[in-house]
Amino acid sequence: MCGIVGYIGNKKACPILLEGLRQLEYRGYDSAGLSVIDGERLRTIKSVGRVQELENKIGERNISGEIGIAHTRWATHGKPSDKNSHPHNDCQNNISVVHNGIIENYRELKEFLIKKKHKFSSETDSEVVAHLVEEFNKKVDFKTAVLEALKLIKGTYGLAIISSREPDKIIVARNGSPLVLGIGKGEYIIASDTSAIVRHTDKVIYFDDGEVAEIKKDGFTVTNIKNKSVKKDVTILDWTVERTQKEGFDHFMLKEIFEQPEAILDSIRGRYISAKGAAKLGGIENVIARIREAEKIMIVACGTARLAGMVGACMLEEYAGIATEVDYAHEFRYRKSVIDEKTVLIAISQSGETADTLAAVREAKEKGALTLGIVNVVGSTIARETDAGVYTHSGPEIAVASTKAFTSQLAVMALITVLFGRQRQMSLVTGQRIIKELERIPSKIKQILAEDKEILKIAKKYHKYKNFAYLGRKYNHPIAFEGAIKLKELTYLHAEGFASGEMKHGPIAMIDENFPCVFVAPSDSVYEKNFSGIQEIKARKGKVIAIATRGDKEIAKVADDVIYIPKTLEMLTPILAVIPLQLFAYHMAVLNKKDVDKPRNLAKSVTVE
Ligand code: M6R
Repeated sequence: MCGIVGYIGNKKACPILLEGLRQLEYRGYDSAGLSVIDGERLRTIKSVGRVQELENKIGERNISGEIGIAHTRWATHGKPSDKNSHPHNDCQNNISVVHNGIIENYRELKEFLIKKKHKFSSETDSEVVAHLVEEFNKKVDFKTAVLEALKLIKGTYGLAIISSREPDKIIVARNGSPLVLGIGKGEYIIASDTSAIVRHTDKVIYFDDGEVAEIKKDGFTVTNIKNKSVKKDVTILDWTVERTQKEGFDHFMLKEIFEQPEAILDSIRGRYISAKGAAKLGGIENVIARIREAEKIMIVACGTARLAGMVGACMLEEYAGIATEVDYAHEFRYRKSVIDEKTVLIAISQSGETADTLAAVREAKEKGALTLGIVNVVGSTIARETDAGVYTHSGPEIAVASTKAFTSQLAVMALITVLFGRQRQMSLVTGQRIIKELERIPSKIKQILAEDKEILKIAKKYHKYKNFAYLGRKYNHPIAFEGAIKLKELTYLHAEGFASGEMKHGPIAMIDENFPCVFVAPSDSVYEKNFSGIQEIKARKGKVIAIATRGDKEIAKVADDVIYIPKTLEMLTPILAVIPLQLFAYHMAVLNKKDVDKPRNLAKSVTVE
């Protein structure tokens, strides 16, 4: 949530900052702003709305400084407005701050600063940082003032701070919100994530919590809050600029939907031995003995990633015979869950930065559990803080709605099931069968993608309806929820996911001719039950769009519309069944003229509680 970017070097900072903001806009997009030190003057320009609004506001103004910071906001404290946008400056307009996170004790700090005659101009928690640094800076140098301020701040932050009185440096600090330093030739770019850095350099340093850095044109130093030096390793990025562009697609979401065959291939490549029916996951090899001893698996995640966990739990219980629970990370951390050294906690996260999922990992480590991450973003906090893990390797996912990250998470869960299962009860033949079917998934996805025009036709038929129910059972129960999330977040229509068996216990009362139901009913072990469910909806004049297995002629006789998917192993049907639901939600959003890649009120990674 919120993206921050900073630049120091020999080039004009303003265009680099704006470009960085455009890359980070998916993290928050209700307002944006930047500060540049131009000569001796601090120039700050802010605007409510998208980065484009900020760019329009800057217009032809010549801002020539070579050091600056910028921010794109997802509001937490104070509504989106010019004055609540970052950067926030001190009373004298010397110090400028961009912040991602939440300052929990800002009220008491603000009271203290008001008593010292500081004048506040926003309703945000972040502004206290500028005034606090200003207060200490009266007696000590800029960096020491930042360190003193950090000692008083409680909460989470990724911070970048500049001062026109020491215009040769940016001070950055991290606690709980991501921050990466890109190392260029005679220049440095600081950002919330690497998407704003890749076009400048492939050399980065990931900061850890409690670290502070002083960055100058010709070098940088990293310390902890007590100013004790910290040694950092340089990581080389393997993401290219091209992978973060739309490449001819109208939206990132559509591009990412169409990338799924490749993304799944990348997530499974080199990670199995077909003949042995075995999975080999290098990232968890070191902890394999502990996994063998595990008595319980606890999966934690949020949103779409949690739904991948629900499918994974179904796989693990059926094929590895190991008790598996799934929880919302934000519930897990506050309930007294029973976990210990015999528990393996799996955290699933595309961004690897979701605050609640990270907190759940920390809680589980505290209780002695072995923690594993299934994460997409290399070097992200969850990837680094878990004991071991598996990267999904789906490439950058820019659209707020998760698509390829989800199907790659499912593919990785299938591999984990084979790995854990073969350690326990799974036979060679079953292992071989799962692997063989998994290998065929990318080409089967291609077959579904080829039906996109048919799915568009169905979306055209339904795009004026206001309420939708999504139904599924067993492996496809989470897929019903996922279909509903996609439609809600992209179109703002009312869509609810249900376990289809639950309909008769209440929800069916809502059904009439104006309440279409999307029924995920492939030919699997619960097909007959789903078929009865479809008939019950039809008996109440409900309209049914069925997701069924190719060749199922019976379903076409009862459902209003059918989207067919190729046949596969039951445990892998979710990877196929979700594709038409993604495309349906995408077309519904375009037809309803919604902002597909940046739906209102949302942000790509939720780095605050
Ligand atoms: O980065 P994460 O996978 O941890 O994000 C979790 C959720 O916020 C995310 O899956 C969200 O639900 C998606 N935007 C939905 O499409």
